[in-house]
Amino acid sequence: MSERVVLAYSGGLDTSVAIPYLAEQTGGDVIAVAVDVGQGGEDLEEIRKRALACGAAEAVVVDAKEEFAADFCVPALQANALYMDRYPLLSSLSRPLIVKHLVAAAKRFGGTTVSHGCTGKGNDQVRFEAGLAALAPDLKIIAPARDFAWTRDKAIAFAEEKGLPIDVSAKSPYSIDQNLWGRAVETGFLEDIWNGPIEDVYDYTADPAEPREADEVVITFESGVPVALDGRPLTPFQVVDELNRRAGAQGVGRIDMVEDRLVGIKSREVYEAPAAIALIAAHMELENVTVERDLARFKRSVDQRWGELVYDGLWFSPLKDALDAFIADAQKHVSGDVRMTLHGGRAVVSGRRSGASLYSYDLATYDTGDAFDQSLAKGFVELWSLPSKIAAKRDREV
Ligand code: ARG
Repeated sequence: MSERVVLAYSGGLDTSVAIPYLAEQTGGDVIAVAVDVGQGGEDLEEIRKRALACGAAEAVVVDAKEEFAADFCVPALQANALYMDRYPLLSSLSRPLIVKHLVAAAKRFGGTTVSHGCTGKGNDQVRFEAGLAALAPDLKIIAPARDFAWTRDKAIAFAEEKGLPIDVSAKSPYSIDQNLWGRAVETGFLEDIWNGPIEDVYDYTADPAEPREADEVVITFESGVPVALDGRPLTPFQVVDELNRRAGAQGVGRIDMVEDRLVGIKSREVYEAPAAIALIAAHMELENVTVERDLARFKRSVDQRWGELVYDGLWFSPLKDALDAFIADAQKHVSGDVRMTLHGGRAVVSGRRSGASLYSYDLATYDTGDAFDQSLAKGFVELWSLPSKIAAKRDREV
């Protein structure tokens, strides 16, 4: 039986060149699969036509924007997922979704092999292949950039030799990955970690230092899912999309960091994730109001581990599934409104209200009407400090 190679296709130079190259290498057919995860830019139909023009036997485009928002971004929001306390995992979230659609295409078209354009130095190869190992362990994998040491120059020469209908001059100095949850920029002059990012690097966000009027937004959550902005019911995709524009216009969500990759190297990354950063801040605050103290404390360590698993490519794994169940349970009461001011690069919470609030004015107030019985505190504090008191006494004596 001849090979049928299912290729994760972006429409760019590298994966376009991969189409005739994979056909040549395997003597088989190439099925190009392009997934819309809200990356914007080119029309999917254009991308589909280009895949066919480059020699793909089949070309499939999938509009997965709502699925990406609801099944990948929302869980990340519920986990307040920030790898190394800063990176909202945008690339890490899209890979498992793309894997799902590659596997579906392999089933539909009798695929025997899957191919992706990742190099051997990054996390994304791990995310693709660990996902495939879980969902479709029988499919073979070819990664031309990694396995056959493809370089950009080689790709351009090959494109010209084959007369592929792609614009080889459209060359960005950066490696960019973007989707609904944000945008990642690396390489070029950013590889010198002393170099500051220039405005040119950014696309989702305006310069936060520019003077402008603040924006105020009320975000409504139901069980940890954002369901409305300013009282208008919206799908998760619509919420994220609108907040990307509104928070982006205020310069919210720029991140410049050195990051620990799974393959062992440290890399310089510039991100912009306006909606993700604003939503996570809002969601965390609503959890502060509605989640009981011990559950909240424990959840922080679960959130951290969840983010690491997803960063490390283990979206489809038993521990991730079990943590999802915990997080889903912890979201039961995370319902209500959060008001935020978006301004000067920051998304700051200024108000919260919830029918499931654990905040009690009567217990918290220092004014008249205080329902907190302070006389109980004296005995509580004495017993609370008893073990340390005894231990300290022993230490003085020994
Ligand atoms: N460092 C980030 C991650 O591992 C972003 C990777 C972006 N990918 C890219 N091809 N630029 O999740």
